[in-house]
Amino acid sequence: MSDAPPNRRMILNAFTMNCVSHIQQGMWTRKDSRQTEFNSLEPWLELARIAEEGCLDTIFLADVIGLYDNYQGGADTSFRQAMQVPVNDPMLLIPAMASTTRHLGFAFTSSVLQAHPFTFARQLSTLDHLTEGRVAWNVVTSYLPNAGNNLGFEGLPSHEERYSRAEEYLEVIYKLLEGSWADDAVVDDRERRVYVEPDRVREINHRGTYFDVAGPHLSSPSPQRTPVLFQAGMSERGRTFAAQHAECIFVVGSSRSGATLAQDLHERALLQGRSNKDIKLIGGVAPIVGGTESEAFNKQAEYEESLSVEAGLAHISGNLGVDLGDIDPDQPLESFQTERVQGFIKNLLDSAPSDTRTMGDLIKSNLAGAWLTGSVEQVADELERRFRSGLDGFNLTYTVTPGTFVDFVDGVVPILQKKGLVQREYAPGTLRKKLFGQDRLPSNHPAAAVRF
Ligand SMILES: Cc1cc2nc3c(=O)[nH]c(=O)nc-3n(C[C@H](O)[C@H](O)[C@H](O)COP(=O)(O)O)c2cc1C
Repeated sequence: MSDAPPNRRMILNAFTMNCVSHIQQGMWTRKDSRQTEFNSLEPWLELARIAEEGCLDTIFLADVIGLYDNYQGGADTSFRQAMQVPVNDPMLLIPAMASTTRHLGFAFTSSVLQAHPFTFARQLSTLDHLTEGRVAWNVVTSYLPNAGNNLGFEGLPSHEERYSRAEEYLEVIYKLLEGSWADDAVVDDRERRVYVEPDRVREINHRGTYFDVAGPHLSSPSPQRTPVLFQAGMSERGRTFAAQHAECIFVVGSSRSGATLAQDLHERALLQGRSNKDIKLIGGVAPIVGGTESEAFNKQAEYEESLSVEAGLAHISGNLGVDLGDIDPDQPLESFQTERVQGFIKNLLDSAPSDTRTMGDLIKSNLAGAWLTGSVEQVADELERRFRSGLDGFNLTYTVTPGTFVDFVDGVVPILQKKGLVQREYAPGTLRKKLFGQDRLPSNHPAAAVRF
């Protein structure tokens, strides 16, 4: 346990997905959740306003580019239960939400399998310009075989190959965003009729294993250049990758396993020449709050009724790459091996209390999605405890949307503000400036090595 240094503050992200049902499967059937309205812009604009009212750091959008199609041998359950399908593009929501807010950040997920890095780099720059530097990219390597089949890989490339691709993908992105245009390339000189100084722009001529990209980048330098980088890899390779590249890293598991993981990530970052202050560790929490503790637990009991264990099974089947269609709920977790989400089972095993070691218990606790239930004061106190034991912030997972976020912003945020743990108002500038005090990636980051 270490006390927070005075300038450290808790980061809060509203965690969601451009689909009906993200994590807490089954809740979409409730009347008090707007999940089925995801195809319209209005609920997203409402959510952005709520998040900014609560001074949250970002809206964080998850994404997949394939079906969870291995439960009971297919995707029928996923379709019936709207389990991450239908799912729309997260990136396209951002300019609209940015236009209704001034400070809120927007983190979105994009897999290194899904778009060519040249095309993707231009999308990143465009978003960074339009939002005045408020975007973050959650770098993922995908885990659903259908994603690989959708993108011409004939199944999912191996775990090792996905991370090798990720390494090269980032190298290309850095070269385009950081190395192709000099900071002073755009002169916008009407008298001389020169908008861009041609000798301040250069090709990247990248030739690699997976990509050949000549360049130059087509967008001019945006406020952050490279957006803030999020990552959630848990495997050996995933953690090394995160420690090398990521600025915000998700840490899953109990406080003990979380602390071990945090230490591990910090050690790996040190080996890469980065320091603790370059990396924020973000945990996950699904707050269920009430005016009193009993009010909150009544709410939880009501929510429990709406959960769908079947959709939960389909979700976890996809995560593990194992069809849980005829699983014996008493089967111990240790009997599962998978290479797709290698860290997933291990983390759950590490974090589960002794009575949640069977698959049945795992599914229940997974569906509950890290529920933290209590009065507004209790939830604030527990978040403070986790923050002081090393986490830098939290992804807030919704049970109902926007209700969960409204309850949190109205009830818990003011208490956290009184405690001096979260911001009362936004600092000016880009998302990276708000989180790390500077617009650009620091000089000890691999992106800095390829700067113009
Ligand atoms: C909080 C959190 C959010 C994640 N969001 C996504 C996502 O939106 N899309 C995705 O494909 N993977 C997502 N993942 C999965 C990770 O990117 C990664 O594939 C997984 O943690 C396994 O990592 P590993 O391959 O290094 O074991 C998420 C993981 C966590 C913990």
